Amino acid sequence: MAEIKVLFATSEVAPLIKTGGLADVSGALPAALRAIKVDVRVLVPGYPQVMAKLGPHEAVASFDDLPGYPPCRLIFSIMENGVPLLVLDCPLLYQRTGGPYSDPTGHDWPDNPLRFGLLSKVAAVLGSSESPLMWRPDLVHCNDWQTGLAGVYLSVAPGAVPNVITIHNLAFQGNYRPTKVQKLHLPPESFSVNGIELYGNMSFLKAGLYYAYHITTVSPTYAREIQHEPLGFGLQGLLHSRSRDVTGILNGIETDEWDPETDKHLAAHYSVARMAGKADNKRALQQRMGLQEDPGIPLLGVVSRLTHQKGLDLLLEIAPKLMELPVQLVILGSGEPAMQHAAYHLVESYPGKIAAMIGFDEGLSHQIEAGADIFIMPSRFEPCGLNQFYSQRYGTPPIVNNTGGLADSVVDCNPDTLKDGTASGFILPSMTTDGLFDTIKRAIEVYRDEKKWKSLRKNCMSKDFSWETSARAYRKVYLKVLGRPE
Ligand code: ADP
Ligand code: GLC
Repeated sequence: MAEIKVLFATSEVAPLIKTGGLADVSGALPAALRAIKVDVRVLVPGYPQVMAKLGPHEAVASFDDLPGYPPCRLIFSIMENGVPLLVLDCPLLYQRTGGPYSDPTGHDWPDNPLRFGLLSKVAAVLGSSESPLMWRPDLVHCNDWQTGLAGVYLSVAPGAVPNVITIHNLAFQGNYRPTKVQKLHLPPESFSVNGIELYGNMSFLKAGLYYAYHITTVSPTYAREIQHEPLGFGLQGLLHSRSRDVTGILNGIETDEWDPETDKHLAAHYSVARMAGKADNKRALQQRMGLQEDPGIPLLGVVSRLTHQKGLDLLLEIAPKLMELPVQLVILGSGEPAMQHAAYHLVESYPGKIAAMIGFDEGLSHQIEAGADIFIMPSRFEPCGLNQFYSQRYGTPPIVNNTGGLADSVVDCNPDTLKDGTASGFILPSMTTDGLFDTIKRAIEVYRDEKKWKSLRKNCMSKDFSWETSARAYRKVYLKVLGRPE
């Protein structure tokens, strides 16, 4: 099998730094690719969270004169899962208190164009004959807007290798005023409609899509949706015109990390054959979150960014009506202040029935997947989504909207799908409060039917969500771009 060398450039990688699913993918896909003989190395900025968690490491290169950028260096380390890591150490840009994209008050860092321009620039240098490293990739794999400029820099770099880009979320584009073009030393001719210009601004993501040899996104349905309004978010024309270069590859999940038989965050372990532990997790979750301890009441769970995309405003709106049913609700999330307040308000109004934790808590996210009975994920759009995979694996059937990766990974429960053993959750008939309310009621009816619920849970837990199939699909894309036979 031919070996391919790939530089995987990303702005987050689990377990070092995570705000969402991109980190999960960057933490797992490279390892799965390495298992099928693709030599992947991950390039990530040296945020404090990353620097603090690095194992043994050494500086392997420094860049003192990248036009427009402060000096920086590359640190080599190996992640716990064996994946080689290149950390882009630039204290001036990355060593600060806050998140990868925003300050502690939630405002975007004003110099994000520079911060992610540098990430893109270094990815491009490493993919050119100017690389100071012995290891040269055959291809640069970019992810989302933060690495979108790599293709532009590669387009003018000597001895440049091709690049592909994966869209994890088209709603985030990195659009900035055109004055940045000069500051980032991009080729002036790139600022055109056939280039990085988008409605008068410069767009990191548009650049990424325009200059990539191939574009992938994280589910087949989303690959189709983004070629049209409204989910193209202004880039549908470009994506449609490049239709033949757009491939949807469904994400997998880290099956060791997310395994109810071994999960270190759980009160008790369980499996399809031995389900008793799930009830223990429900009790532990009710205790931890101050909910009434009741094994029989259906417990709805949410783990999510609290943003318009995730559709949880609908759930918060119908919560008072839901509370007329025998049902409990637990929410873990953070995001838009209005939604956070609404969640807290509900907790105050329905103590013991609704619980919420506003913040980011890895352990609790596992405990909700395991302890809840039904998982709620009514996203307005969802490129792939990971929680619906986790919840299925934990025997907690999800309620999802019919979009993107949710549509590709959940089979609606009805008499036919229950009979043929494919049912694995519930799909909303419409993205409305009524649609969500009726679907929750429908799910509770099935929950009350022990036999049906048992077979639904069994279907969920028997599904294969490992990364292997996806990794093979990425390898195929790499080979195509490199013009090599499979
Ligand atoms: P997105 O990347 O759009 O936020 P995904 O479903 O792909 O959505 O991935 C979200 C990831 O982040 C999952 O691993 C989920 O468990 C995790 N997550 C989201 N919010 C929280 C939170 N508040 N605490 C812990 N984990 C969270
Ligand atoms: C994005 C998307 C999410 C996807 C994740 C990983 O954050 O919103 O749907 O699962 O990226 O690809």
